[in-house]
Amino acid sequence: MPGQTPLCAERGKPRILLVDDDQNLLDSFRRLLKDDFDLFTAESGQDALGVLAACGPFTVIISDLKMPGMDGIELLSRVSRSSPDTVRILLTGHADMQAAIDAANLGYVYRFLTKPCPPEILRLSVEAACRHAELVRDQRELFALKRCKVLLEGIVRGFSALVEARDVYLAGHQQRVTALALAMGREMGLTGADLDTLRIAGLLHDIGKVYVPADFLNRPGILRAEELSVIQMHPEVGYDILKHLDQDWPVAVIIRQHHERMDGSGYPQALLGRFIVQGARILAVADVVDAMCSHRPYRPSLGITAALAEIEKNAGRLYDERAAEVCLELFREKGYKLGDPDPEI
Ligand SMILES: [Fe+2]
Repeated sequence: MPGQTPLCAERGKPRILLVDDDQNLLDSFRRLLKDDFDLFTAESGQDALGVLAACGPFTVIISDLKMPGMDGIELLSRVSRSSPDTVRILLTGHADMQAAIDAANLGYVYRFLTKPCPPEILRLSVEAACRHAELVRDQRELFALKRCKVLLEGIVRGFSALVEARDVYLAGHQQRVTALALAMGREMGLTGADLDTLRIAGLLHDIGKVYVPADFLNRPGILRAEELSVIQMHPEVGYDILKHLDQDWPVAVIIRQHHERMDGSGYPQALLGRFIVQGARILAVADVVDAMCSHRPYRPSLGITAALAEIEKNAGRLYDERAAEVCLELFREKGYKLGDPDPEI
């Protein structure tokens, strides 16, 4: 095609297709726009369809209305179906105004320009069309992200239910722990992404128990040392399952550390408090409270009073002092009850 810019010669610049049967007009538009846009030209509607097929997609297409053969409205209506994200501008004479208005109302064109079109108006219109294309792309990406989030939520809930289905004593445990951890997190000033990370980690914190034989989890009586050591692998196994998630999203680390204790007496790494992430410190307190209030194969529930006494007694030694403090406040002063639903779960 005469005057054609080589394909993808200027990646990064918006790609513009100009369609007009007036070669002089194409030349003047090219001179005006070539420095800032990746420009392609076509001299007829049919020619434009060929360029679209070979070199598309384009950010913007600007088409003359009156051309021999296929007119601009026919071309742009086809482009609206084949490349709906390409912003379409119709170039028309005053005499064709009604046809241009009709095309706009039918959704074939983003805007129309009248001939003769002053260079500055053309440039401003192309720039506005590029911004519009960017907005449409951003909205599409946002929609895709929202769909991913819904999908992720479904996967998290599915895995959470899976691990609880294997352990009858674990039913509802991860949800209650998550609800309490979130309530504590908010009291401690956590917001946004930090709360979201804590929520996902809470819902999955015992996911590593999928590797523990169900018999160990559900059998009454005290576990043998070797059985206990298998169960105590679950934070590490949970970490292995989730460690390939985004490195900036510390869900896996929180899960790995949720049985660590501030004095280094926890497992699996016997970390000292300063090496334990905040989410794991919060989750540890919530986990102990719920575990002590739940029936176990080897003992009945110990009750909330005993659970809070344990947290109080070992605040600062086993449990993060601030996390312990807000937990006690929630139950003793703010009327929190274990199993209270949380709006974010
Ligand atoms: Fe656990």
